[in-house]
Amino acid sequence: MILDYKNIDDLNRYKIMSGTVIPRPIAWIVTEDEGVLNAAPFSYFIPISSNPALLIVSIGKKDDGSPKDSLANILKTKKATICFVNKDNVDKVQKCAMPLGKDESEIEKFEIDVKNVMEGFPPMIASSQSAMFCEYYDTYKISGDITPVVLELKYQYIEDDRINERNHVNVENLGRCGVSFKALVDL
Ligand SMILES: Cc1cc2nc3c(=O)[nH]c(=O)nc-3n(C[C@H](O)[C@H](O)[C@H](O)COP(=O)(O)O)c2cc1C
Repeated sequence: MILDYKNIDDLNRYKIMSGTVIPRPIAWIVTEDEGVLNAAPFSYFIPISSNPALLIVSIGKKDDGSPKDSLANILKTKKATICFVNKDNVDKVQKCAMPLGKDESEIEKFEIDVKNVMEGFPPMIASSQSAMFCEYYDTYKISGDITPVVLELKYQYIEDDRINERNHVNVENLGRCGVSFKALVDL
């Protein structure tokens, strides 16, 4: 079967693409504005370069046409802390996808524990095994309602026993397959 994207509407494009490009990493991004901590998951997310250490995340708009809070905060403060999802916090990340007002904090509303490990950056989700402390790098203009944002990774937290002396990393992050979170298994 050949699928012709010019005949497929946005929802069905999303369903087919997100069911095919699997597993998708999830950036659970913590940002801050005027003391309000914001946290939201994003799956249009991937590393794009090691030097400079860059990641890209595409963030859309709210139903009222205003930028999602994460995007507004990144553009304003130039900082973002990317956290990762595991089986201990997957219930919380789903809640963070609910649209809240700009002055409402997902961290407070859903009672998510955070910890400050890097001065000058938003705190990380305490239950994440690793977190990336990033600065704004660039945005790209594309057609449609979504903004690809490039972030530069400046510092990374990782639990001590999840990285060895050869820098081999062992984190148990969940990925997204279609509409489900899935764990990765060794073959
Ligand atoms: C698994 C998952 C992946 C998501 N990926 C994206 C994404 O890549 N881009 C996006 O704009 N929204 C994405 N969303 C929706 C946002 O998380 C949602 O709009 C959220 O309310 C944005 O919050 P904010 O306004 O606080 O930034 C995703 C939701 C879920 C559950």
